Amino acid sequence: MPRILVFDSGIGGLSVAACIRQRLPSVELVYVADNAGFPYGDQPEPTVIGRCRTLIAAALQAFPCDLIVVACNTASTVVLPELRAMTRIPVVGVVPAVKPAAACSLNRRIGVLATPATVRRPYLDGLIREFASDCRVERIGHPSLVHWIEGAVTGKAISQPALSDALQPFRDSGVDTVVLGCTHYPLIRPQLEACLPDVRFWVDSGDAIARRSESLLEQQGALVSSSPGAGPPVRAVLFSGPVPSGLTAYMTNMGLAPAEVCGPWPGAQGITATGSV
Ligand code: DGL
Repeated sequence: MPRILVFDSGIGGLSVAACIRQRLPSVELVYVADNAGFPYGDQPEPTVIGRCRTLIAAALQAFPCDLIVVACNTASTVVLPELRAMTRIPVVGVVPAVKPAAACSLNRRIGVLATPATVRRPYLDGLIREFASDCRVERIGHPSLVHWIEGAVTGKAISQPALSDALQPFRDSGVDTVVLGCTHYPLIRPQLEACLPDVRFWVDSGDAIARRSESLLEQQGALVSSSPGAGPPVRAVLFSGPVPSGLTAYMTNMGLAPAEVCGPWPGAQGITATGSV
């Protein structure tokens, strides 16, 4: 059975894992979350690179995989070349879906909702220059949103007025399309939509990543004659820190029932703040 390693700093990558699961039900998933280093948006780039490399290498030793998906925009903007130099396993990253958003927007006003780090990185400037140069692009890099969403998994409600306030710049600039430029955000899409009822198009990268994963596995011949296994869709969930309470129920609700959940995962033990072991 083909296996994909899905990596994020926290639970946001589950939004991508769900899209992969939907498109590729015969593939087994291993989910790795560096929640001891969360949020990556607050970490210097060398730290993010070191931690991703160390954890992914350790996880691959325990669970050999056919594909690595870095389901984190903040990490993908800095770590992909290093990972590709580290392993021959294909690596898929996620970038804010500016191109499809520019293809949708009717009024040429787009909002990009991301972490402060993603919003500042030159990578995003490049995407906007290349694909949305005729659009007015309003960026929100919200420092707390990922924390609120991590809390929501453990049952802590997100304040709708606070969320609505955070999104005010999109209302002010009249965007008709919003890019969810952090993999955590699709997990609360109904709440986001309730705050911005005039937005017509919501765009994230989950389906595109699932399609790209499918094509890379096909190229390797890994999908030939594979059929859904009898076991749960997620072989293992490995957290570098403690497992968030309520996680198994949350994942099961998303169609991502895990066989094994571990945290702090012993494979991540000894990882230093900068990622060396
Ligand atoms: N899910 C990550 C992303 O897509 C979270 C960001 C963080 O850890 O700062 O960017």
